[in-house]
Amino acid sequence: NEEEEKTEDYLFKIVLVGDSAVGKSNLLARYARDEFYPNSKSTIGVEFQTQKMDIDGKEVKAQIWDTAGQERFRAVTSAYYRGAVGALLVYDISRRQTFDSIGRWLNELHTHCDMNVVTILVGNKSDLKDAREVPTAEGKGLAEAQGLFFMETSALDSSNVTAAFQTVVKEIY
Ligand code: GTP
Ligand code: MG
Repeated sequence: NEEEEKTEDYLFKIVLVGDSAVGKSNLLARYARDEFYPNSKSTIGVEFQTQKMDIDGKEVKAQIWDTAGQERFRAVTSAYYRGAVGALLVYDISRRQTFDSIGRWLNELHTHCDMNVVTILVGNKSDLKDAREVPTAEGKGLAEAQGLFFMETSALDSSNVTAAFQTVVKEIY
């Protein structure tokens, strides 16, 4: 019946990927709990949060996985990516090195996931205007070349955080 249809659940696995300290854990904390940690520690192993979303009147659940950017803190890679249908590929606009790593992360993603995993390139820390090392146009250009969605976000001031996650979920759905 109609009531049952309304409460039907969709569960999507989404992974956060990118170098250490780009802000993956804080993007998730901001999105899931509206929290920000100015002095957060590196993630060890894997954490995940299940977040309910409303897409076109349907309840959708996103299970968002977060792991360490640093190799030595990471859990088994294949398990992390298994079953993922969405990905946020994150770099820090104030550290070019993290942008240069994106190609490597994209390779890893495509090694372990279906080619058509919905992916958004995320330039985080857009609040750090004076320290910017990666112009917006460059991020946009890479995203276009690789067929990715693109957004600049700030976990600190919240800008575009919800939008980035929703872009992925909407496209999957
Ligand atoms: P790993 O777990 O080591 O892979 O790092 P991570 O990508 O999860 O980074 P994390 O979220 O722990 O953030 C690293 C540092 O950047 C912390 O000190 C955060 O407070 C800071 N940070 C995260 N997002 C932002 C942001 O949007 N703006 C600013 N200014 N700082 C941020
Ligand atoms: Mg982390």
